[in-house]
Amino acid sequence: MSVLAEKVMTRDWDKPGQNTLAGYQKNGGYQQLKKALTMQPAAITDEVKKSGLRGRGGAGFPTGLKWSFVPSLEKNTKPRYLAVNADESEPGTAKDRFILENDPHLLLEGIGITCFALGAHACYIYARGEFKYPSAVLDKAIAEAYAAGIFGKKLMGTDYELNVYQVRGAGAYICGEETALLESLEGKKGWPRLKPPFPAVVGLFGCPTVVNNVETIAALPRIIEKGSDWFMKLGTGKSGGTRLVTLSGSVNRPGTYEVAMDTSLRELIYDKAYGQGMPAGRSVKAVVPGGSSAPVLTANELDVKLEFDAFKPTNSMAGSGGVMVMDDTTCIVRCAWRVARFYAEESCGQCTPCREGQPWLSRLFRKIEEGRGELADLDTIEQVARGIAPWPPIGLGTTICALGDAGALPAQAFLTKFRKEFEDHIAQKCCPHGAAPWGFFGEFK
Ligand SMILES: Cc1cc2nc3c(=O)[nH]c(=O)nc-3n(C[C@H](O)[C@H](O)[C@H](O)COP(=O)(O)O)c2cc1C
Ligand code: SF4
Repeated sequence: MSVLAEKVMTRDWDKPGQNTLAGYQKNGGYQQLKKALTMQPAAITDEVKKSGLRGRGGAGFPTGLKWSFVPSLEKNTKPRYLAVNADESEPGTAKDRFILENDPHLLLEGIGITCFALGAHACYIYARGEFKYPSAVLDKAIAEAYAAGIFGKKLMGTDYELNVYQVRGAGAYICGEETALLESLEGKKGWPRLKPPFPAVVGLFGCPTVVNNVETIAALPRIIEKGSDWFMKLGTGKSGGTRLVTLSGSVNRPGTYEVAMDTSLRELIYDKAYGQGMPAGRSVKAVVPGGSSAPVLTANELDVKLEFDAFKPTNSMAGSGGVMVMDDTTCIVRCAWRVARFYAEESCGQCTPCREGQPWLSRLFRKIEEGRGELADLDTIEQVARGIAPWPPIGLGTTICALGDAGALPAQAFLTKFRKEFEDHIAQKCCPHGAAPWGFFGEFK
């Protein structure tokens, strides 16, 4: 049984006024930025490397390593930027918004520390377009920080200038992909860029840029406060710290929880501190463990830990921590169709396999769900999905960005792990779970 040794990210969320500057400072806020400004920038990056902090945006990439890809000012004299990814559009994920709502200055303090470490004098926070309330709280916090002389020409009274801007997206999922985000920040259509070059070298306005998730950057004040060893010890030895996960679906207590990295899916679903089990009479059929891009797991795979590397043997991923639980009444074919429709809708259309393949998958799932499927459709699903993303292993996509994988890998996993359910739909010429007949859903893709 894993236990959360101490709250790290949510530590102060319940304290009164925590989302105001006065409340934040009363609880020790901005002392870590003050401390960081007395350190050598390279020493901060070293601390982050030693802390084992890994990106919370989905891929779990080591944060300190990413920062170290930014060329030194001697090698590249261009300005450098920090872009904070607050797009949070991955279905099933709702954690960054709570940082913005409950503890916006924690993020802002993390931004100050990160920019100083990188030598960046400007930071852009790219916020999901639908984030009306979280964005309003963040705007207020930024204004408070400027008024108090924390940001601006003299960062915390030093000679270091730092400006922080919030930019709102317009509701496109693809703009959460780091290079699409940069395009959008530049005022262009949110189309992912071919990599390399990576943003750390050629990013915003052609300058070195680090893109990090909100939760990643908000961990910085804690690392500076208590040290990299402490942060590393909280984790598993491969990933430092704790993590925020969003539990939704068929559980008694859905919500956003801070958990220890070695918490298993089973504990998250059943423990009284978290999901408190399934509704009466229901059992787990399937779990999507890391947002809709993460391939589905079966009820036999619930002992996997929520740490990033732990998912490798399952061919799924910890992703953005969006855990969605499906019970025994759920139609897997309909789920597969729902997920495929999302990726078909959100594909930006630059790459043929993704542009044509995602809607094709969606149409095939719909056909089977509505009782019009044939066995040959199952082979076609596999072929189309493999055309977008050969699987396994993960990450061999044939497309510019990982949205291709994000649509194709779940499609393959739904079919591979629940093939009998697809075959039953085909044999019975209807959805055994009682879905509406052909045409009921109108002209969805
Ligand atoms: C289609 C797509 C959507 C993404 N959406 C988000 C998002 O909403 N938020 C986020 O932090 N990362 C998102 N990512 C991951 C980012 O590209 C990037 O890896 C991340 O922001 C890096 O931050 P981290 O290193 O702190 O995790 C997305 C990736 C893809 C391919
Ligand atoms: S994989 Fe899809 S979303 Fe990504 S660039 Fe290609 S078409 Fe656009």
